[in-house]
Amino acid sequence: MKVADFVEKYAVERKNTDSVKWDGMKDSFGTNDLLPMWIADTEFKAPEAVMYALKKRIEHGAYGYSLTPDSYYETYFKWQQERYGTELHREWIRFGSGVVQSISALVNVLTLQDDVVMVLQPVYHPFMHVIENNERKLVVSNLKNDNGHYEMDFDDIRAKIQNEHVKLLINCSPHNPVGRVWTSEELEKLFEICREEKVLVISDEIHHDLIIGDNKFVSAISIKDGFYRDNIVMLDAASKTFNLAALQSSHVVIANPQIRERYDEYVEKMCLPSGNLLGEVAAEAAYREGADWLSGMLGLIKYNFDYVKNQFAENEPTIKIAELEGTYLAWVDMRAAVAPSKLHHFMQHDAKLAVNYGEMFGAAGNGFIRLNLATTPENVEKAVNYILKALKN
Ligand SMILES: Cc1ncc(COP(=O)(O)O)c(C=O)c1O
Repeated sequence: MKVADFVEKYAVERKNTDSVKWDGMKDSFGTNDLLPMWIADTEFKAPEAVMYALKKRIEHGAYGYSLTPDSYYETYFKWQQERYGTELHREWIRFGSGVVQSISALVNVLTLQDDVVMVLQPVYHPFMHVIENNERKLVVSNLKNDNGHYEMDFDDIRAKIQNEHVKLLINCSPHNPVGRVWTSEELEKLFEICREEKVLVISDEIHHDLIIGDNKFVSAISIKDGFYRDNIVMLDAASKTFNLAALQSSHVVIANPQIRERYDEYVEKMCLPSGNLLGEVAAEAAYREGADWLSGMLGLIKYNFDYVKNQFAENEPTIKIAELEGTYLAWVDMRAAVAPSKLHHFMQHDAKLAVNYGEMFGAAGNGFIRLNLATTPENVEKAVNYILKALKN
């Protein structure tokens, strides 16, 4: 599908629809009068099949306690197997009301108070909040930034695991915000260190359908034919892919039966959510009939990314943008264009944009911004032009 056709068919006004991104800027930025390029959702309707399936279910009228049908598992498993070669089994699957909620539950299941949990920064900020809010100790290994290409620092990871007695690693794959789709080799190296050092892994794969160009996504539980999967809990959802975040449904994939038992006990003790009717109806329809929609969406992200990259390269080469292998989030190094101490003022008052600031993802992100490219080319053009114009002034 051409980018223009995707936009014409699916773009939708979200302002004045109680959207956090458009109508909730005031809480974070002091005003709703900015162009929102922050928070990770989109200005696009979900695939038609999702709306039809929801409508049909809603018209039934009764929304009592519900089971997850066999067809849900079949459709989700087929999607995972055919697109990524990921093998899943029904007994491994649990449901959450969101990936972050499940990370929080798992931190409690897999570690004790004061245990040490590692993240690779810069990284999605709720990882840090969940660790600290649950009274675990946060240890950070910074990714190595080679001119916008980020890599894991395996020596540092191993040294910190040993010195700090790390018990759990939360990894983001593909990586928000630096846009990497980790290769099998990289993941194997990481998981081998974790196996040798007896560190469990939570693999947050919520962005795994958002793969740009020829990059290849491999799930943590498939690495080396599943060799590491007893050491790993994998989390994913249809929500980021198909813009369903408010329907609050996600997967917790636990191959290890002992961990599963402990997780189930914790869910029972805390009475945690374990499935959401409308979220599952939407996800099943998306997995069944959303492939063309997704390829249209991926084409749009690539188009928007190339536009931003080329515009900055031509007009303001001091702004460096990390190559986008996955996610729809561009990671932009503004340090040579705007002093980090002035960046908030510049973005909000001069450029009139709402963006996520890099330091939110860890100290290594200071002076960077994260731009959400899952919006119309018109909004992306505006955002780039606002930045370029503000720099000229
Ligand atoms: C890496 C990552 N994990 C989790 C989430 C949020 O997931 P949920 O809304 O299912 O908690 C996001 C949203 O941006 C994300 O980027």
